[in-house]
Amino acid sequence: MWRYRELVMPSVTDPVSHPEGNTPLIARGAVQTHARCASLLLKHEGHNPSGSFKDRGMTVAVTQARRIGARAVACASTGNTSASLAAYAAHAGLPALVFVPRGQIALGKLAQSLAYGARTLLVDTDFDGCLRLALEASRTLGVYLVNSVNPWRVEGQKTIVFELLQQLGYDAPDWIALPAGNLGNTSAFGKALREALALGMISRAPRLLAVQAEGAAPFASSFAAHFATREPVHAETLATAIKIGDPASWDRAVRAITETNGVVASVTDDEMLEAKAVIDASGVGCEPASAASVAGVRQLRDRGVIGDHERVVAVLTGHVLKDPGIIQRYHQEINPKPARANRPIEISASLAEVERVLSRP
Ligand code: F0G
Repeated sequence: MWRYRELVMPSVTDPVSHPEGNTPLIARGAVQTHARCASLLLKHEGHNPSGSFKDRGMTVAVTQARRIGARAVACASTGNTSASLAAYAAHAGLPALVFVPRGQIALGKLAQSLAYGARTLLVDTDFDGCLRLALEASRTLGVYLVNSVNPWRVEGQKTIVFELLQQLGYDAPDWIALPAGNLGNTSAFGKALREALALGMISRAPRLLAVQAEGAAPFASSFAAHFATREPVHAETLATAIKIGDPASWDRAVRAITETNGVVASVTDDEMLEAKAVIDASGVGCEPASAASVAGVRQLRDRGVIGDHERVVAVLTGHVLKDPGIIQRYHQEINPKPARANRPIEISASLAEVERVLSRP
């Protein structure tokens, strides 16, 4: 992604990079059928080094931390930002402090943070409480905060949009759909599209579709009231990545949606899990929150907001292995069995049993 350095951090010569970016744009018939959107493409950000889009912002923010001689770096996280920060801080040789809500982040993400060597604080609160504590710590203890309130994160995340436009030969799609939690990415997409238009990279901006989980949808509720209100909620959703009740990048995201004539929608956990099961079974795979983008496209097709022939890119924000717990629950534990559950089959070590399984419909 550093090929866009002039639009990200022009003065950089030696970024802290793993490297990141160059993620694929994927077409899968089964996913298009599920979303009822024949042109749907998936921009898979799970192909980044720590398995999520966060790496694009983190390479910039940690490069900046090193430039200013920070003594340590910190973030509050629902898991992916912390996994990414841990990986980049390790590379830069900087101590990392991560604040995560105890018992509320997915196993793969917690495992990464520990493995990459971050000081991992399991805080007895939710994400919103973690962010408040991290902000306080950065103010009083002088650690460099790399949440998406840090402008360098947003600069890096713009490259998702630049890259997908380039992959499409600068023939912009009609819509870009993305899951929305703390709204840093929605803000980054808005800024990227503003800049792409100003530079003449594209002649017309795609509409943004930001998709929240129904139990953590303060931004979607506000959109429905023409952004006249801002009411934090107590967040509840299985998609822990976007389990956020009081998003930090609110105002910038309002601008992104307004300027692109965008839409904010919310989807239920069941809709998200079903979309995930389809994406997973197509061999692509993603984490639960990522599937909100595809579930949102399906909803807007049903509502007639996305037209028959409109071209859509949905961003898959994280890798399928980020949240193995949800996969196990969906495929092995939920009763009654969800329609798309793929139950494992226990057999004795006999060829006859293998043959019996093989000949089943
Ligand atoms: N998808 C995934 C997989 C995420 O991890 C996040 C945010 C989002 C979507 C939403 O992006 O917050 O910019 O609106 N994860 C953050 C974290 C909050 O701490 O990892 P957003």
